[in-house]
Amino acid sequence: MENIEKIREQFPITAHKVFLNHAAQSPFPKPVADTMRRCVDETSNFGTVQKEWEDLGKPLFAKLVNARAEEIAAVENTSVGLNIAANVLHAPRGSKIVTTDLEYPSVVYPFLRKGLGLNLHYVKNTNGKILLEDVEEAVDDKTAAVAISQVEYANGFRHDVRAISEIAHEHGAYLIVDAIQATGVILVDVKKDDVDFLTAACYKWLLSPTGAAYLYVKEELVEKFEPPYAGWASVKQEIFNTTDFWDIWKLEFSETATRFEVGSSSFVSFVGAREALKMLLGAGIPNVERRILKLTDHLIESVKDLGLKLQTPEEKPYRSGIVNFRIDNPKKGRRRT
Ligand SMILES: Cc1ncc(COP(=O)(O)O)c(C=O)c1O
Repeated sequence: MENIEKIREQFPITAHKVFLNHAAQSPFPKPVADTMRRCVDETSNFGTVQKEWEDLGKPLFAKLVNARAEEIAAVENTSVGLNIAANVLHAPRGSKIVTTDLEYPSVVYPFLRKGLGLNLHYVKNTNGKILLEDVEEAVDDKTAAVAISQVEYANGFRHDVRAISEIAHEHGAYLIVDAIQATGVILVDVKKDDVDFLTAACYKWLLSPTGAAYLYVKEELVEKFEPPYAGWASVKQEIFNTTDFWDIWKLEFSETATRFEVGSSSFVSFVGAREALKMLLGAGIPNVERRILKLTDHLIESVKDLGLKLQTPEEKPYRSGIVNFRIDNPKKGRRRT
């Protein structure tokens, strides 16, 4: 990135720290903090906000993942997005859900609820990698869904999502993707990869506060499933405009992914997320990815020079923004990651 110094100026934290913890929580870039401050001030002084903020950044997130805005719902966090996906499927009891042994709990827990009666199959990693041949062997005609993180939090392993969607769809299974460690780092393309459900919160690599997340549901599937929750935000908003009051005598879900929304969102968080998405789309994700891989290459080389144990697969197609290694802790005689 040619203008890297200019970009760094937008991140006040760079004046104080070498920050290496985006996989946990992002510090706010200046434009994000300024826009949220403006939102707070406008609400405080005038009780109103900019009209442009009302889309909650959904069209921008759609652009980021190559979806249509109508395929995006605003949700609270990734875990809520994953729970919605797990609960709309109504998979017959005894169905198989294929996942991996590198997953974050929220990818797996929604399917472990006893009430759903599902069988989880964990594809085991081989030296930190989930091999496609092992996914292929695990998925069968009893599989209702494959649930994975596009980038695994445990060691940064990046899946070939396209290959996994092909395997899932060959057996009539849905593909559910947690993209929180992928969006804002690598190109995420739900159309190219033929993803059915994808969800990501914005407080890590999408440079935003907590409380803002998105759920993508493939257009053909939006109206196929009855949402697990229903509230004023789940229905067509014209209802309120054409009659004097909400029609509370029947429930007609929205024809778009907003049917998976329930009520009011954390508005200030989405105002921040919207600004951050503008920044990232402006910089270009391929540029961001190139820069991240250059910095993580440097870290990996240093880890190896120091003789530390690298736990992140080194091959470029598997790499992301996360690098995991172990350091001996001589005081305790224990090893720490
Ligand atoms: C892969 C993955 N999924 C989900 C989460 C957290 O999700 P939520 O947005 O619900 O806080 C994390 C946080 O570290 C994560 O690494």
